[in-house]
Parts: sequence; structure tokens; C-alpha cells
Amino acid sequence: MHIAIIMDGNRRFAAANNLARIIGHAQGADNLGKIMQLCPKYGVDTLTVYALSGENLTKRSVDEVSNLVDLITKMARSYKRKLVGQNVRVKIMGKLKSLPSDLQTAVEELVESTKDGTKLVLQICLNYGGRAEIVDAVNNAIASGQTLITEELITQNLYSANEPDLIIRPGGELRLSNFLPWQGVYSELYFTETLWPDFGEAELAKAVEFYQSRQRRFGG
Ligand code: IPE
Ligand code: IPE
Ligand code: MG
Repeated sequence: MHIAIIMDGNRRFAAANNLARIIGHAQGADNLGKIMQLCPKYGVDTLTVYALSGENLTKRSVDEVSNLVDLITKMARSYKRKLVGQNVRVKIMGKLKSLPSDLQTAVEELVESTKDGTKLVLQICLNYGGRAEIVDAVNNAIASGQTLITEELITQNLYSANEPDLIIRPGGELRLSNFLPWQGVYSELYFTETLWPDFGEAELAKAVEFYQSRQRRFGG
């Protein structure tokens, strides 16, 4: 089973608990570590997480963006050994090349050192936008000499074509915010008011139970 999570609500968590914004983001990042470890128990072999959108980078303050970049760099470094031990393979979706070079290096090293992981694929969306992904896919297809764009060609040129069975959005917003518009067309959608740093095992179990109660028809 492939689950995708829009990790939303970090700043509201910080505000509600009288913490600095960056602590809310840090607790959100820690929570990813916990949820990831629970994946095998719930039959999840692929976990895709929305960590940073293209819009976050252009629309948030310089301060917040720089804090987020530092946090993700630190996490990428400190999780490397842990993820190798947990047999997790990390992949990145998004425009890594336009992020600061320290972050790029840390993330590239994480991807390289976890490349033999077989228990869980963790796809991290960084500087990700679903529309940009589709535009990049079309341009890649054109660059390779294609003149007639088909669904198959776009699928082959996405950052990752892996389609989530279930998309979870904590934090109470009922929208997708430019997350997986191509891969998610037939995903089941689960929304909860719980803020991401508070989203624990009980919440994950509820989301999986919701998924199991759905009848998927794919138009049939
Ligand atoms: C999600 O939490 C993390 C990122 C978008 C980087 P937010 O920062 O959006 O927190 P809220 O949704 O404003 O509470
Ligand atoms: C979506 O959350 C992006 C991530 C969780 C990384 P946002 O907080 O950016 O989404 P909006 O602004 O509420 O749509
Ligand atoms: Mg948000």
C-alpha cells in the first residue's frame, strides 16, 4: 500500500503550544520519523510526504524559509544512519537543483546511502509542485524527440509515477495544495483536524481503517 501525507499544521501546532514556529516544524519532522517506523506494521511499502512546496519557498518570509532549509539539511544528515538501519530507501521528488547547495549535498548523500533499502520507499517532496512536475515531464518528453504527447509519455517522465492508494491531510484544510495532481486522480482522500506534529499511531490506524472501508471503482 502506498500512502501519501501532506504534513500540514506545524505553525498552528507551535502557536497552540506557545512554541516558536521552527519548533513546530522540528516536531513535525520528528513525527515523520515516528510515522515512518510504523509503516511496515500497517502494510505500507511506499510513503510519500509533502515536506516543502515550491509555493512555500516563494511565498513565506526569508527567515522562515531559511529555518526550514536548515532544518531539512540537519534532518537529512542525522537520519542517514537510522534509515539505512531501518532498510528504508529515500527518493526525492521536486526541484532539488534550485535549493541551497548544503541541502542538496545532504539530500543527495541520503539518497545514495539508502539506495539498497527494500522495506520502505520514502519519497520526500522538496521544492515540489504538481503542475511544475507535469510541465517538466512534458518538456522532458519533447527534449527526447517526442512530438505527440500521450498519458504514457507524461507518466514515464514524472519525478515518480507511483500512485498513492491513500492521501492523508492532517491540519484541517480540505485541499491538495498542488500535491500529486497526476498520480492522485484515483487516490482515496482522508482529512483530519489533528495537526501534523500530533498525528500519531491512533490517527494512522484510523486513516488506514477508513481506506479499507472504501470501495475503489476506478470508473468501473
Ligand atoms: C506545514 O505546516 C509545513 C510546511 C508547509 C513547510 P505549516 O507551516 O503550513 O503550518 P500551518 O498549516 O500554517 O499551521
Ligand atoms: C502544503 O501545506 C505544503 C506542505 C505541507 C509542505 P501549505 O500550508 O503550504 O498549504 P496551504 O497554503 O494551506 O494551501
Ligand atoms: Mg499549512
